Amino acid sequence: MSTTTLAPPIQGESLGSSIQQQIASITNDLIAQLPNPAHLTSEQRCGIIARYTAVLEGNFIYWMTATYIAVKSEEVRSILAENLFEEVRDAHPIMMRKFAVAAHAFPTANDALSIDRELTSVRLFLGKLQSVQSVLTMAFFEGWIQRFMTFLADLAGAQGSPEREYTDVHGVCDITHTAELFRALSIEMAANPIGPDADLFEGVDLLRTLIVSIVQGPAANAAA
Ligand SMILES: [Fe+2]
Repeated sequence: MSTTTLAPPIQGESLGSSIQQQIASITNDLIAQLPNPAHLTSEQRCGIIARYTAVLEGNFIYWMTATYIAVKSEEVRSILAENLFEEVRDAHPIMMRKFAVAAHAFPTANDALSIDRELTSVRLFLGKLQSVQSVLTMAFFEGWIQRFMTFLADLAGAQGSPEREYTDVHGVCDITHTAELFRALSIEMAANPIGPDADLFEGVDLLRTLIVSIVQGPAANAAA
């Protein structure tokens, strides 16, 4: 289902807040569908951590960089640069890898390839360098990551891992990052409006499908 049908066309600031509400609703649905970690097998818990790691470790900075390349507004570029600065300076991929290794859930080839189709779709979308759609996709991603952190930490805890640096950092800093990305969205939409036929939620829909695959694993792929 395309999320573009959820709201009637409106303009300006109310459009920005309507989009933010739609993203919040998509994120709320994804969080509400998360299983109880205590009801999962150890293998299922590992699979979720591994698939999440397979996506996040190598792609987050790449996708934020793709968005940086796509945008036209200098102000938006500086917001995205600040996000990338933190990612690189604080070496977030190292935190991610440590988290997965400590939970004995570092991705295998099977984990990585089980989400290959959905991951490829998001990569190809970002390769189109559509600035507004890309910023919206990353705003959605940041917000979802922040909300997902409690669940991810609970999975690691159930696996007997005490390592929490990744989940602690992303449960806090991504609140600001998400707000900044929605501010960036408003600026980019004004500076570089999308055409009437463009699908604003194209990337959000693809990323949502990838997130469902991360959580549900090969079962989601088999059902698709
Ligand atoms: Fe990060």
